Amino acid sequence: MGEQKDMLEESRQGEALELDRGNGTKTGKKLYIESYGCQMNFSDSEIVASVLGNEGYTTTTNMNDADLIFLNTCSIRDKAEETVRKKLKAIKHDPNKKENVKVGVLGCMAERLKGKLLEEEKLVDLVAGPDSYRKLPELVDDIEDGQKAVNVLLSREETYDDIQPVRINSNGITAFVSIMRGCDNMCTFCVVPFTRGRERSRNAKSIIDECKDLHKKGYKEVTLLGQNVDSYRWSDDPGLRGRNLKEAPRKEVIDFAKLLVMVAEIAPDLRVRFSTSHPKDIIDEVMFAIRDYKNICNYIHLPAQSGNTRILKKMNRTYTRDWYDEKVARIKEVIPECAISTDIITGFCSETDPEHQDTVNLMKKVRYELAYMFFYSERPGTLAQKKFEDDVPEVTKKARLKEIIDIQTQINKELNEAEIGETYEVLVEGVSKRDKNDLRGRNSQNKVIIFPQESFKLGDFVKVKVEKSTSATLIGKAVEKVTY
Ligand code: 5AD
Ligand code: SF4
Repeated sequence: MGEQKDMLEESRQGEALELDRGNGTKTGKKLYIESYGCQMNFSDSEIVASVLGNEGYTTTTNMNDADLIFLNTCSIRDKAEETVRKKLKAIKHDPNKKENVKVGVLGCMAERLKGKLLEEEKLVDLVAGPDSYRKLPELVDDIEDGQKAVNVLLSREETYDDIQPVRINSNGITAFVSIMRGCDNMCTFCVVPFTRGRERSRNAKSIIDECKDLHKKGYKEVTLLGQNVDSYRWSDDPGLRGRNLKEAPRKEVIDFAKLLVMVAEIAPDLRVRFSTSHPKDIIDEVMFAIRDYKNICNYIHLPAQSGNTRILKKMNRTYTRDWYDEKVARIKEVIPECAISTDIITGFCSETDPEHQDTVNLMKKVRYELAYMFFYSERPGTLAQKKFEDDVPEVTKKARLKEIIDIQTQINKELNEAEIGETYEVLVEGVSKRDKNDLRGRNSQNKVIIFPQESFKLGDFVKVKVEKSTSATLIGKAVEKVTY
């Protein structure tokens, strides 16, 4: 039930982060930064940490110790924004916070609400959108002088490619690497194209350099992040970059399939993951790369959003149910061991019961290893909000959500039971939360496996035989360490 509830909540709720350096001119000042929403936001907080680290800020996980409090926010659903508003009010009324503490809102909510956050609510001093983090030192100077500061300019170029992220709360084993920013897809329900701006790819060399550096520092897994990684495109030729890179033939550019291979070739003991794929853009070459490189994980996050073609069209997903079914079949054909996960929205504008049943039958057919499920939340400024009526009653949206959560929970239970007796290579990422004598890691398919520590340690690759399962976790016993 806890798991089901989590799916109804935001995927990751504000986590406090701690920096590991700070040596600039503001030595002694402390920053508390909390991130909400998608992995990209968590990754962006590492950019922010780097920019302010250079100014001498160190971080603290104790908000009451901070001179500067930042919330890196998410706008994807109304509930995500509500959570941040509550937090801002709690900060305002917290009697234990430092005198003269300044509060800033970063990320998607900053971009969406802009100056309104300063004027209407008087809860914050600084508002900085996702493309303005280089400007944070100046913005912070302004608020220290008692002014309010806003920068919500979106950029067509900013990728922060030369900024070395400061790894926050890191386990030293797994890291996120941002490969692109923004989104050009314009799904009608989605606020992201408005809050994160136009899609742009990061310089391939800077991505490879960052991954090599992580590997040198002992990291064993990188997750390449983008709103739509399959449309990654880079060329060193500025002339080509000036033209529409998307139209250029594959052989003239570094596309996502090539980038994946370049990262995979850094070292056999550096695992590669990526998120998020778009069903309309994922191509065979990406699947071939996964098949051909053992260190590219057998896992694809392929959001379906709905199983019904009319609803998909209304969502502007630009594929049909048949197209989606064929993509899944092709993935399974090329990489039989590949796990697939999805995002689903229930109760989108005008969705009927039979149309919802198409989502149900999609889930039963694909049998996803993991599904993030949400009921539709109308977002101001999106195409759906402008064009369509949000006419499915909330009780219906929630009943449909509950139906698919129940189905998915059952599928997870069955899939996990079927894992008993299988042996997987697991990368050890940490110690089990339940028992500190157990280690926790994931297999290539992204499934969490817990097993007794014995003599193994963080960062080891260990073959583990699965002995037991729950609907969320596999429990096993080590067979042997894998050496590269
Ligand atoms: N309402 C509900 N869920 C949404 N998502 C995006 N926008 C909305 C919305 N307005 C979901 C989609 C997306 C995931 C990140 O969040 O499923 O893939
Ligand atoms: Fe939003 Fe669609 Fe872009 Fe994903 S692909 S960020 S759902 S517009």
